[in-house]
Amino acid sequence: MAGTGAFAEILDGDVYKYYADGEWKKSSSGKAVAITNPTTRTTQYKVQACTQQEVNKVMEIAKIAQKSWAKTPLWKRAELLHKAAGILKEHKIPIAEALVKEIAKPAKDSLTEVVRSGDLVSYCAEEGVRILGEGTFLVSDSFPGNERTKYCLTSKIPLGVVLAIPPFNYPVNLAVSKIAPALIAGNSLVLKPPTQGAVACLHMVHCFHLAGFPKGLISCITGKGSEIGDFLTMHPGVNCISFTGGDTGIAISKKAGMVPLQMELGGKDACIVLEDADLDLVAANIVKGGFSYSGQRCTAVKVVLVMESVADEVVEKVKSRMATLTIGRPEDDCDITPVVSESSANFIEGLVMDAKEKEATFCQEYKREGNLIWPLLLDNVRPDMRIAWEEPFGPVLPVIRIASIEEGIHHCNASNFGLQGCIFTNDINKAMLISDAMETGTVQINSSPARGPDHFPFQGIKDSGIGSQGITNSINMMTKVKSTVINLPSPSYTMG
Ligand code: G3H
Repeated sequence: MAGTGAFAEILDGDVYKYYADGEWKKSSSGKAVAITNPTTRTTQYKVQACTQQEVNKVMEIAKIAQKSWAKTPLWKRAELLHKAAGILKEHKIPIAEALVKEIAKPAKDSLTEVVRSGDLVSYCAEEGVRILGEGTFLVSDSFPGNERTKYCLTSKIPLGVVLAIPPFNYPVNLAVSKIAPALIAGNSLVLKPPTQGAVACLHMVHCFHLAGFPKGLISCITGKGSEIGDFLTMHPGVNCISFTGGDTGIAISKKAGMVPLQMELGGKDACIVLEDADLDLVAANIVKGGFSYSGQRCTAVKVVLVMESVADEVVEKVKSRMATLTIGRPEDDCDITPVVSESSANFIEGLVMDAKEKEATFCQEYKREGNLIWPLLLDNVRPDMRIAWEEPFGPVLPVIRIASIEEGIHHCNASNFGLQGCIFTNDINKAMLISDAMETGTVQINSSPARGPDHFPFQGIKDSGIGSQGITNSINMMTKVKSTVINLPSPSYTMG
């Protein structure tokens, strides 16, 4: 059970502690932030409301801890990460329980998130050993006008203190996707969890604590964004920010100053369906891509752009698959569970009502109880409807019927977002041409969008983000290149 057994020390009464300097602490604020269970809509957990002074302290300690961590042999850093991965997987049940209660993620998916996170940490340790163990060697005479008088040795060195801000929908997985690369590369790490998802994050951090990472290297600070959000992201002690979330990321990137940024800020992933596609495969992927975790994924299918000639058939097939989705509590492992908050449910409802006023075709009746919204397919959506462009982050999916491939590409590219997209066709040549024309970070051919496997590059363009993620890219992003040039007194050529 969350907060018991190996996790008992992270809880004080009914308030979870924050983690700093290798210890679990109570905030001097004496205040707590309540976490509402999306299903029951009552307070499930409480976490410390940390202060700006506590942020300052954490930053100071993180800076000191990083210096000696950077001198820790790479194999030792990897060894500790492997150990943390093992502990994380061993404790998957209480962590998954927190995910179920805090973010209403279905029970099985919650367990999968924890196991996937352990695998990510292990892979990161192995990849880090490989890529950080290598540098480059250059000679000067390859550039015009130079003799071979200079040898340049480059290596990758840490940035310093990395600030990691994961989102509510993958609080564990998208935290470790930032923590593990930062640590293997020799950085220290300050984690600011989302409020909903904070307790799962604190449990995950405790697994790193149990693995025996040095004091101060990892901190996890909880609290209100209004109190410590800007303070953290604009803190002079931060040397890199890795953020996943909504358009708050745009504001962060404007305020952050001269630090490397890794940002993933959502998407409006289009699914383009051509006449020759396997329509059963299409329907299966639309339902999986559009409605997994109730559509609360950056990479969810968020608009279907289907050729008119096959649209009726696609809509019918999607409708019949949707009819098999189970709706209810995450504890019962239902496919559709309550969305994360009342404000989120209200926002989704606003998009639905706008589509209703503008006469979209409702393939099912709109139904909502509290934060639980029944899955809804909206057909005959037109570009003047908000749902055609906005990201519902909920179980509502618009279908736009298109007369040509160009119309589909145009709609996809007119979006502010550019995370992923997908194309369904049996003609690989067409698929490649459309993929090249789509302004998105990734295009999936004959499958719905997805970030994983977690070592694949993952990036958004336009308002979807800055930089590329995936294990290798994140490790590289959290380092800088250092060159040492050996200057020779006279040209030196290897004779062979
Ligand atoms: O919500 C954003 C995530 O990066 C999506 O990850 O494709 O594994 O669901 P996923």
